[in-house]
Amino acid sequence: MSTTPHQPMGIAVIGAGYWGPNLVRNFAGSPDWDLKLVCDLDLDRARKVAGPHVGVTDSLERVLDDPEIQAVAIATPARTHHGLALQALRAGKHVVVEKPLADSVARGREMVDLAEAQGLVLMTDHTFCYTPVVQKMRDLVQSGELGQIHFIDSVRINLGLVQPDIDVLWDLAPHDLAILDHVLPGGLPSTGIGATGADPIGAGRACVGHLTLPLPDDGLAHVHVNWLSPTKIRQMVIGGSRRTLLWDDLNPQQRLSVFDRGVDLARTSVGGEDPTASRVSYRLGDTWSPALPEREALGSMVTEFAAAIREGRPALTDGRAGLRVLEVLEQASHRLAEQAGKTYADGVMVPAGPPPVPQQAAAASVLEGAR
Ligand SMILES: NC(=O)c1ccc[n+]([C@@H]2O[C@H](COP(=O)([O-])OP(=O)(O)OC[C@H]3O[C@@H](n4cnc5c(N)ncnc54)[C@H](O)[C@@H]3O)[C@@H](O)[C@H]2O)c1
Repeated sequence: MSTTPHQPMGIAVIGAGYWGPNLVRNFAGSPDWDLKLVCDLDLDRARKVAGPHVGVTDSLERVLDDPEIQAVAIATPARTHHGLALQALRAGKHVVVEKPLADSVARGREMVDLAEAQGLVLMTDHTFCYTPVVQKMRDLVQSGELGQIHFIDSVRINLGLVQPDIDVLWDLAPHDLAILDHVLPGGLPSTGIGATGADPIGAGRACVGHLTLPLPDDGLAHVHVNWLSPTKIRQMVIGGSRRTLLWDDLNPQQRLSVFDRGVDLARTSVGGEDPTASRVSYRLGDTWSPALPEREALGSMVTEFAAAIREGRPALTDGRAGLRVLEVLEQASHRLAEQAGKTYADGVMVPAGPPPVPQQAAAASVLEGAR
């Protein structure tokens, strides 16, 4: 599919619920895009969001059959991402899909493989990666300003909507994981993930979750997500051997602080009863706050989607970035299942041991084979 530079590309937004309207607003306001259609199973919702100059539909086929639509943005619940994205890719459309990329690693991988086979852009909307503050954090970490990363603490807690189908890790941690994947030079680790979760209100799924991820050279990252906290906290601390940064997203006056302070282990050993303690010294330096431009992250995201298509390259937060996040989430679900004496398979916790094959399902699979 060829596009000339500066010619707006046709796009449709699928899903006009809570998040879809933000995509609609940004695609409609972008010179890179010509928003053609808003598609939602609930046509009234689509109408409210689309405004007077954009078409609406409840039919995916109408979107996919329209030759003027070159790309789609999917903002429907996670369990539907895989099916919708595969249909769009098969129809030759570029796809940006909301986080999380899919509801399992296997389904996410199928999306990535199909996009690559078709030569189409598959992007994950990891929105925070397009915020000026996270871009500055990435610069600071990747330029070596912080030195070797020793620890990361990320806290994302408030009174959140208890989701009917996913636990708090799958709901909130994609943000923290996408940020870590973007900021850390080696991206997210793929093994050694630890996780604990708790459901103190009996909701049937973890409402409080803690994740640990190993970092190179014995560093450690920790993520805390929680739907039950009346106190809202959105903070990330990245501690390095040279400097440490604090991102406090609820403090617009000083969203990012860099501390020229830390702990050093002196090279020369000092005698005495406790040589280790005597070798530790504390650096006390300045704290400064980098200037950050004010810019809507989704505006940059839709620009990046267009640029990736035009330049025929992977987007900054491509399908593979989405897949790395899913890999951590799935490992976390395995840890939570082990904690409960269960096993995790395809989005559900089942009692440990081989799953029973129900009579009807067994009969159906025999019929399936006979077709
Ligand atoms: N990037 C972010 O910061 C951010 C923030 C919130 C939500 N999200 C993500 O956005 C996605 C949507 O979340 P939400 O809170 O808006 O959900 P929602 O339930 O409020 O809205 C989903 C909409 O999709 C529609 N829909 C469902 N299946 C459809 C289909 N097959 N075809 C057309 N329309 C369909 C529904 O009718 C509904 O209007 C999720 O993946 C969520 O994780 C991302």
